[in-house]
Amino acid sequence: MCGIVGYVGSQVASDHPLDVVLEGLRRLEYRGYDSAGVALVSPDGRLSTAKKAGKLANLVEELDLRPLPESTAAIGHTRWATHGGPTDVNAHPHVAGKLAVIHNGIVENFASLKAGLVADGVEFVSETDTEVAAQLIARAYESTGDLTAAMTEVARSLHGTFTLLAVHEDAPGLVVGARHDSPLVVGIGQGENFLGSDVAAFISHTKEALELGQDQVVTITPDTVTVTGFDGLPAEARRYTVDWDAAAAEKGGFASFMDKEIHDQPHAVADTLLGRTDAHGRLVLDEVRIDESVLRSVDKIVVVACGTAAYAGHVAKYAIEHWCRIPVEVELAHEFRYRDPVVNERTLVVAVSQSGETMDTLMAVRHAREQGAKVLALVNTHGSTIPREADAVLYTHAGPEIAVASTKAFLAQITAAYLLGLYLAQLRGNKYADEVGEILIELRAMPDKIQQVLDRADRVRQTARSMVDTSSVLFLGRHVGFPVAMEGALKLKELAYIHAEGFAAGELKHGPIALIEEGQPVFVIVPSPRGRDSLHSKVVSNIQEIRARGARTLVIAEDGDTDVLPYADEVFYVPQSPTLLAPLLAVVPLQIFACELATAKGLDVDQPRNLAKSVTVE
Ligand code: G6P
Repeated sequence: MCGIVGYVGSQVASDHPLDVVLEGLRRLEYRGYDSAGVALVSPDGRLSTAKKAGKLANLVEELDLRPLPESTAAIGHTRWATHGGPTDVNAHPHVAGKLAVIHNGIVENFASLKAGLVADGVEFVSETDTEVAAQLIARAYESTGDLTAAMTEVARSLHGTFTLLAVHEDAPGLVVGARHDSPLVVGIGQGENFLGSDVAAFISHTKEALELGQDQVVTITPDTVTVTGFDGLPAEARRYTVDWDAAAAEKGGFASFMDKEIHDQPHAVADTLLGRTDAHGRLVLDEVRIDESVLRSVDKIVVVACGTAAYAGHVAKYAIEHWCRIPVEVELAHEFRYRDPVVNERTLVVAVSQSGETMDTLMAVRHAREQGAKVLALVNTHGSTIPREADAVLYTHAGPEIAVASTKAFLAQITAAYLLGLYLAQLRGNKYADEVGEILIELRAMPDKIQQVLDRADRVRQTARSMVDTSSVLFLGRHVGFPVAMEGALKLKELAYIHAEGFAAGELKHGPIALIEEGQPVFVIVPSPRGRDSLHSKVVSNIQEIRARGARTLVIAEDGDTDVLPYADEVFYVPQSPTLLAPLLAVVPLQIFACELATAKGLDVDQPRNLAKSVTVE
């Protein structure tokens, strides 16, 4: 939520700092797009700013009309509005005298701080909490004459969540940042340095990054990076090299990032599986540094996550319970945190998050650790907060996900959850090595099968284009098809703004069937007829039941399943796979359906209204 970029460079740098910041904002726009703004300090110490409501393109237009002067230090912001509507005035940066500030997060004690400033005669122009921080830092600078000291002093007095960046006319060659519960990473260049909400902000300039810790202040000049704590003392930040390059954060010829990311999915799954076995084929998850004896004694797993990541958690439940015989609960992180959950030292909490920054999930992680539970983070973004605060991390290797609606990260999360389940089964003796090995072989075959689903997607697209006037779509699934149904519904809501709901197929007769009327489209995710029990025949019966009541049935079934044909208006076949692994295939047509339908409605699939990719406020 909100994207932040900072840059300092010597004048020999080939790029104009403003261009560097605008490029960074373009790459971070997925974090929020209610407004955008920049502030520059020229070498002779003049502050200039520009800001505009709406997407970044509006700011760029404004800068074409009213160019800003040369500079050596610049900051930029793309906003997801919290305090104050998405207007020009509320857009960041906020200026206080000679200082400009940008902010991601919420300053919770802003009202009392503001009251104090107003009593002192300070006049505010915006409704934002950020302007309060700007005024405070400007005052602190007046008394200290040191931007780092001023930022540190104010950071200590703020409650809530924040990343703040500041530039000041009297300190032309530097940018100062502070972070508390919101993300900030440093990019290390040659004669130039960068700050960003994530590495995408500077990836085309450097892959060398510093991961800042909680409650740290960073000061960058063209040649130095200084990190201190809120106590003013020198602090450590972890240096790392980003393992993807700028091309991975470009559309690469696709019409949208979402389309590209859907097509990246075979790689996302393959890369997440890569290098996880030793020379004997045994599963080794080196990153999971929780003591093996602790993992053996775990008597309950709780998955905490939000949105799509929570649906990956639901798939994990089916797999882990089946393979490891450990009870698994899946809970939305924001519900978990505030209901006094029963967790203790024998509980393993698995926090699933693409960004590693979702505030609800982070708060759940902290709460779980306070209760003595071990926390394993299943995260895509290196350098993010959740893995830093967890006891261990299992990274997904989906690469950068830019489109707001998650696709490839979902498949990578499910894949990593399978690996975790198999690892625990191996460790706890629930499965012999050869049994784990057989499932791994099936898993390694999944990227090719996902590719086949992508290659056959034309009919899904045609169907989607024919449904632009649809006002409601239902999704039914059973067993692992249930989270797939919920994810299919979520994608359609997020992208096409169509009412959509996912149901457990078994629940149909307990209520949802009342929604079925003539022509109501219903996607049904049908389990493999080769699977256990009578799952398949039960779902086929459900298709008959809704068809008999007028539903238009859109069926996702496994190759060779002819049982569904008499009751399906459309069948989208996917390759055969073991039941537990089938979500990796069944969800793909639903992603493509939502993306195509939204596109046909003329909507922006990468930046759907009201949403932000990383929800860094509670
Ligand atoms: C937001 C995004 C979703 C995402 C969810 C969890 O709601 O719009 O696409 O699934 O956050 O994000 P995370 O980064 O924790 O996976």
